Amino acid sequence: MKKHFSIAVIAGDGIGPEVISEGKKVFSGIAALDGGFSVTFEDFPWGCEYYLKTGEMMPQDGLDILRPFDAVYLGAVGYPGVPDHISLGGLLLQIRRGFDEYINLRPIRLLRGAPCPLAGVQPQDIDMIVVRENSEGEYANVGARLYAGTPRETAIQTGVFSRHGCERVIRYAYELARREKRSLTSISKGNALCYSMVFWDEIFAEIGRSYPDVETHSLLVDAASMFFVKDPKRFEIVVTSNLFGDILTDLGAAIAGGMGLAAGANLNPERTYPSMFEPIHGSAPDIAGQGIANPLASIWAVSQMLDFLGENSWAKSLLDAIEILLTERRTLTPDLGGHARTDDVGAAVLEILAR
Ligand code: NAD
Ligand code: IPM
Ligand code: MN
Repeated sequence: MKKHFSIAVIAGDGIGPEVISEGKKVFSGIAALDGGFSVTFEDFPWGCEYYLKTGEMMPQDGLDILRPFDAVYLGAVGYPGVPDHISLGGLLLQIRRGFDEYINLRPIRLLRGAPCPLAGVQPQDIDMIVVRENSEGEYANVGARLYAGTPRETAIQTGVFSRHGCERVIRYAYELARREKRSLTSISKGNALCYSMVFWDEIFAEIGRSYPDVETHSLLVDAASMFFVKDPKRFEIVVTSNLFGDILTDLGAAIAGGMGLAAGANLNPERTYPSMFEPIHGSAPDIAGQGIANPLASIWAVSQMLDFLGENSWAKSLLDAIEILLTERRTLTPDLGGHARTDDVGAAVLEILAR
């Protein structure tokens, strides 16, 4: 029987719908080229406009609605007019936490043809995978706001680093490093965060004893940021906390072609819940509605989705096609120095795949 993938789509806000429509085009086109599987999308209009109409970012039973799908494909969430902590807390972060998508895989890879602001760096010098903890840490959503409106007003935001939470992400990263025969760098901040990050570092060392074959490094996040710029080659597999992973992957995007090229997979490795695939950029209000957003990050996220769904050879071909598009330079959006429109790009990628 022909395989079928059923994908829930939350295009979201700003450039979200513009870029996601190209990703859907590419996924459907690949299904047609393959012939051995089919794909259907169900679109959910959740996001800031939905919030302004209903007072919620998604329905109360939103997670139950998403649960039966093979994957969630998300554009971007957040727009001026709705406070960011409400929009993100009510949708994207709900899904990551609610579906226990505790691995955030963010490849930082300088494809040939992609712009790089660093001098003397070749594509092979930037090729890492950041494994970001995605369910707790600094994003645990624990805290309080005390004495509001008085001079004693106080905000408390607590990080949560559980043994279970640290072990599973660190173990995942070791397994990945072992499988790919690449080094593993843990990035933390034990010199200042003497509870959470010291605990993280201990667990990184503990688990490492079962992986004597994996070369490891530990870096403080400040020094790691410096090395991302000065010597990105030293990073292969990287494992880090939720907040550090967020920040480092925007830096990673900047050295590897820009926000328009950076994708991420929010994985529930046990497949108890659907995983979610997205560009790592936001809704880009500064360019929304102009038809010039770069959809390649969203298309790269489709490659990650295909990989997770078992279509590994299409996942690879799609990434190769993105690289060919970048080197041919015929259909690039303005952020990559071209004149193409967002909705030219999906077709151009499919044309390359069909060759
Ligand atoms: P952003 O990523 O939206 O934009 C940063 C800069 O990168 C902007 O100049 C933008 O034009 C550019 N950019 C981003 N994606 C691009 C693309 N595909 N093509 C070309 N240029 C692109 O970050 P921001 O401005 O800090 O955030 C805007 C909103 O998005 C906020 O509400 C924020 O909370 C939200 N946000 C959402 C997500 C998400 O849904 N995953 C991620 C980050 C930010
Ligand atoms: C990302 C985003 C989110 C994060 C925001 C929008 C909550 O920046 O996916 O990188 O911090 O995880
Ligand atoms: Mn981010």
